[in-house]
Amino acid sequence: MIKESEYKKRRDTLAKGFLKNSIGVIFSAKEATRSNDTHHPYRQDSNFYYLCGFKEDNSALMFIKTKKGLKTALFVHKKDKTLELWNGKRLGVKEAKKRFLVDEVYEIDEFKDIFKASIKGKKNIYFEINSKKSTLNKILKSTKFFKEKLDIIAHVQKMRLIKSASEIKLIRESIAITAKAHHRAMSMNKEGKYEYQLQAEVEHEFRHNAAYSDAYTSIVACGNNANTLHYIENSKPLVDGELILIDAGCEHNYYASDITRTIPVNGKFSEPQKELYNLVLDTQLKVISMIKPKIMRSRLQEEAEKLLTEGMIKLGILNGSVKKAIKEQKHKKYYPHGIGHWMGIDVHDPAPYRDKNNKEIALREGMVLTIEPGLYIDKDDKSVPKKFRGIGIRIEDDILVTKDGCENLSSSIAKTIEEVEIICHISKRDI
Ligand code: GLY
Ligand code: MN
Ligand code: MN
Repeated sequence: MIKESEYKKRRDTLAKGFLKNSIGVIFSAKEATRSNDTHHPYRQDSNFYYLCGFKEDNSALMFIKTKKGLKTALFVHKKDKTLELWNGKRLGVKEAKKRFLVDEVYEIDEFKDIFKASIKGKKNIYFEINSKKSTLNKILKSTKFFKEKLDIIAHVQKMRLIKSASEIKLIRESIAITAKAHHRAMSMNKEGKYEYQLQAEVEHEFRHNAAYSDAYTSIVACGNNANTLHYIENSKPLVDGELILIDAGCEHNYYASDITRTIPVNGKFSEPQKELYNLVLDTQLKVISMIKPKIMRSRLQEEAEKLLTEGMIKLGILNGSVKKAIKEQKHKKYYPHGIGHWMGIDVHDPAPYRDKNNKEIALREGMVLTIEPGLYIDKDDKSVPKKFRGIGIRIEDDILVTKDGCENLSSSIAKTIEEVEIICHISKRDI
């Protein structure tokens, strides 16, 4: 868990970066209607959560920065017996005052009046410029009242780039649950079952371990389905002799995990599958071994493209020289995506990739990113040797950048051909 003192530190750090004489506001996520009067499960806005850890809707945080110092205010839903009967308990002002290390707590209904009073004499405002969450955001965007109107989100997201020790602990916990889920899927996969049944096994493990949510919609793609990168239909049967690509990760205590394993139906890789699998695996291991502070993500991308292209030429999937193939972007047909992305509260953590001068940000201690090379050979691609057609492979792990290297946070999940084949042969009763 994250301590209240850490949330306070984040708010202080954020406001330290504000111009003098400023006000800042950020709102909770809106409840999302599913249809008519039913709603999607509520999930707090990631940036708002990062700043206070409060999970209720109808809330807001205000920062008032003057010469005298910083004042923070939290606005919460008022206690309401009828609403609480239907939707569950609200913390309310009194309890919120005890829990949060903010200067003031008010009911959300008081927001407008307090906001109006607080902007007197303020020159600058930080708010969610590009959000439609609150009508206030829209009004603020068009007002000429402030000298500077700045995006509070950009500032928060920059902070989210480096994970604290307690965040890393939460990411580890999320990954530990996802590890169980992938191992369960490996041990339960069988010809004749359906992709959605394997998805159910993965998500059973999530829920069973108190991960109420997936970090993203699970992909369970057998055979050629794996060549659709965002295949989430998960509706087809598992066919003997094919591979299943499972890209699934849970969200636990608001922290994501993002893991892909590609496993053989019934537990045995064929020779052509092994050739492609080991090419992706060797590429992933090499790229992970390069991770340390100061290295650029683009360098990792470049290396992955080079290694995959070299391998594809050796296997007769591409021809000519590596240099020429890359120059002509031939490899992109089979490896069309990036090497990885930041991960944290969000699976694709929206921390910046470039600095304010548009220069790429180098890796630093405390960053967490995925490394996920893949190869995707369509079943109808006649330019590729027949034995490789209809195979899609991705291997994805979550990596922490350390002081002088990195740590693969998901290294406990079976990954080599031998490891995967062993787990595939263990019955569900043994895990
Ligand atoms: N699961 C989404 C991704 O790998 O980026
Ligand atoms: Mn990913
Ligand atoms: Mn993924």
